[in-house]
Amino acid sequence: MSTEASIRADDTRAEARALSTAATTAGHAPSIHNTQPWRWRLTSNELNLYLDHSRGAEVTDPHSRLAILSCGAALHHALVSLTADGWHTILARMPDPAHPDHLARLRLDHRIPVSLEARRHRQTIRLRHTDRRPTAGTTTDADELNAIVAVVKSAGAGLHILRPDQVLELASAADQAQRAENADITWQTEVNYWTGGTRPLGSGIPDAAIPDQDAQTTVPGRDFGHHGDLPISTAHENAATFAILYGPEDGEVDWLRAGEALSAAWLTATELGLSVLPLSATIEVAVTRERIRHLLAGLGHPHLVLRITTGDPAGTAAPHTPRLPADQVIERF
Ligand SMILES: Cc1cc2nc3c(=O)[nH]c(=O)nc-3n(C[C@H](O)[C@H](O)[C@H](O)COP(=O)(O)O)c2cc1C
Repeated sequence: MSTEASIRADDTRAEARALSTAATTAGHAPSIHNTQPWRWRLTSNELNLYLDHSRGAEVTDPHSRLAILSCGAALHHALVSLTADGWHTILARMPDPAHPDHLARLRLDHRIPVSLEARRHRQTIRLRHTDRRPTAGTTTDADELNAIVAVVKSAGAGLHILRPDQVLELASAADQAQRAENADITWQTEVNYWTGGTRPLGSGIPDAAIPDQDAQTTVPGRDFGHHGDLPISTAHENAATFAILYGPEDGEVDWLRAGEALSAAWLTATELGLSVLPLSATIEVAVTRERIRHLLAGLGHPHLVLRITTGDPAGTAAPHTPRLPADQVIERF
């Protein structure tokens, strides 16, 4: 083989490796009920992201808004990985209008210098996790919140930090949403499936990540229908910040972008030592989604509520949830 041909072969192998690492790294993304509703198709020079309806939460999320948002987080994780490997990529969102489940196509464009920050960002993907424990710690620093708002904006979405009076309205809406869901037997069955023993291995929320008692909070967290094994403090959570992740419109591509922004915000928060908890019940129920939209006062459409807290002072991390084996979410061609 000529030197030129051998260099080309090395380049091709490096590209395939970077794409494969990106798809694997994306598997660590957060998702509604840890359903991991994504499927990657990997060729030697392209990565394609599809919504996988077979792992959807049909009752909680009939229009797939939260599933697509979860896929957006996975897409952002993949982009972070490719940047950490020194690639500038060409991203097409919803590249094929005839196939709306084809959410994104990623192609490698050209090499870029690798920064330490990009490498650190990829490492943060493995550290990020959902922590449902209430913390009675200190309020979040305004500069740190501004840093999160800025990354959300650069990801094409917005983050509205709620004032104390708006938090009370959020609490009331969250309570209304949870009561509506609890009254629906099909909803209860679905939550039991994703938090119980029969879900596919490597998905769903284990008891180890569910609080062992009701938390003392103003805004109620998700009622999973049972207590788990996660020890939590009995102190009242009074220092949390609540925010609404929003976008200009309310369609599939906006949900995808919101997921990218969620990932960007969460990775930045993790690096700042902050904890993020998505709260989606008010978004799942149409009437409470409308109440949350009013809180935005014309800024846009709500996609997710976030609780942001200072990290646990004891430094005892809540456990990580499992993930599906890579061969169940990545198809190689
Ligand atoms: C769109 C979306 C909505 C979510 N909604 C909630 C929620 O309402 N309550 C909750 O406790 N966790 C919620 N989560 C967190 C997921 O349950 C969590 O990401 C998943 O179990 C994987 O765990 P990990 O984030 O620790 O990796 C949500 C996550 C996403 C991406």
